[in-house]
Amino acid sequence: MNRLTKASLFVIVLALASCGGSSDKTEKENPTSSRDEIRLKQYMVQGAKIYSTYCANCHQTDGKGLAALYPPLAGSDYLMEDFARAACIIKNGQAKEIVVNGVTYSQLMPGNPITNLEVAEVLTYVANSWGNEGGLMGVKDIDKWIDACEEE
Ligand code: HEC
Repeated sequence: MNRLTKASLFVIVLALASCGGSSDKTEKENPTSSRDEIRLKQYMVQGAKIYSTYCANCHQTDGKGLAALYPPLAGSDYLMEDFARAACIIKNGQAKEIVVNGVTYSQLMPGNPITNLEVAEVLTYVANSWGNEGGLMGVKDIDKWIDACEEE
């Protein structure tokens, strides 16, 4: 084999190796988690947009809420203990006395004209921002939770 053939063989091997790609390998080894990671990133991006359109007026950009009127989402025990309940509040609104991190709130939160997918995105956003770590909110769960919302 002459030098040129060796060199081109080397190039072919390199090209094949890079086609294999390491991310492809993780996808095969652990398909669910890497798909969820990608979806989590997508939902965070979409959720941030929905949040600034529909939620930030009251709950504020930093998620800390506003005085005694609007409860915080950042570090909210009420949010993090029941995501099904949170999905219903986001979709249908709520106006009853609730206690968030030891403080009582009772103002009206109106419902939102958004799809279940958008609820999944914005709930994923608020559950994974400002130090919250709730993980991905799949749209199948959201469908189930919203079907089961209590009538107000
Ligand atoms: C008009 C102001 C307003 C807007 C807009 C609004 N909220 Fe609320 N939100 C409230 C109020 C007031 C409450 C408390 C309701 C109660 O007392 O039942 C609340 C409660 C909540 C709760 C449960 C309590 C907590 O702090 O964990 C969540 C979760 C929530 N809102 C998320 C959202 C999301 C997400 C959006 C945007 C899609 C949104 N809200 C838009 C005013 C608002």
